[in-house]
Amino acid sequence: MKIIIVTGASSGIGEEFVRQLDKSFQRIDEIWMIARSKDKMDDIAKELETKTRIFSMDLESKEDLGLLENILTVEKPDICMLVNCAGFGIMGDFSTGNISEQLSMIDLNCKTLTHVTYLCLPYMVRNGRILQVASSAAFSPQANFAVYAATKSYVLSFSRALQEEIRGREIFITSVCPGPVDTPFFERAEKYGHTLRLKKKFSVSPQRVVHDALIAAKKRKSVSVCSLPIKAFHVASKITPHDWLLEIVQYFAGKEKKNEEKI
Ligand SMILES: NC(=O)c1ccc[n+]([C@@H]2O[C@H](COP(=O)([O-])OP(=O)(O)OC[C@H]3O[C@@H](n4cnc5c(N)ncnc54)[C@H](OP(=O)(O)O)[C@@H]3O)[C@@H](O)[C@H]2O)c1
Repeated sequence: MKIIIVTGASSGIGEEFVRQLDKSFQRIDEIWMIARSKDKMDDIAKELETKTRIFSMDLESKEDLGLLENILTVEKPDICMLVNCAGFGIMGDFSTGNISEQLSMIDLNCKTLTHVTYLCLPYMVRNGRILQVASSAAFSPQANFAVYAATKSYVLSFSRALQEEIRGREIFITSVCPGPVDTPFFERAEKYGHTLRLKKKFSVSPQRVVHDALIAAKKRKSVSVCSLPIKAFHVASKITPHDWLLEIVQYFAGKEKKNEEKI
């Protein structure tokens, strides 16, 4: 049985992956959708042509990851594509923030992504694809988004190294690194802080991110960066000392704060 697995399939970028893969991927028997919100995934599945299986799982839970392992062991599917999309971010000052939320971010964005990749690898087919949803936050440290940016740097670093390890098996990994994307992500992310207005101007649709990511994966590219400003930031992050980038962003943040105080 040939399948695609998408985590974080109930909303935003993950939901869009499911929708575009349903239309574009031929010869797939099932799309396996994983997230906590069963009702949302049921509603999405009703609109798809491909047969789906819905797994209502909390991927931060060891029991649910154990369940996924058991299902894979029993079913032994041929995984043509794995999209690791489940993740979240929390902005704001680290030292006054909520530590369990910060640790939870590390658990889901790093530990779960690593674990799901490990569980799926034995079942990946030749010429299969793994899409790891990172972020442009992976390119440089970010004050007031410190843990999130660090988790995404982990995803990028891990994925690039793993690509070299599995190249002989002809499995190709693409790290998806968009800037701000117009999804419910910010409802949770902006609980204690807010995104720079300047940054939000570069916001793109999930449709565009997923479209570009699938093309990048098809071309076996290691990184997919959507939109020109974020591509420019990617280049800048390679040639500019990160201390400078941190200072530049803080400068704009200070300016925006002053403007808000004036209003
Ligand atoms: N939006 C952006 O600006 C942006 C930019 C760059 C990268 N990203 C990355 O893109 C990915 C998807 O984010 P999004 O923008 O699509 O946000 P989103 O709409 O909030 O989607 C997050 C997805 O993750 C799932 N999820 C969260 N906690 C989970 C858990 N414990 N177990 C299982 N699933 C869980 C959610 O489903 P349930 O709540 O149903 O569990 C949902 O399907 C994240 O990794 C994010 O870091 C987002």
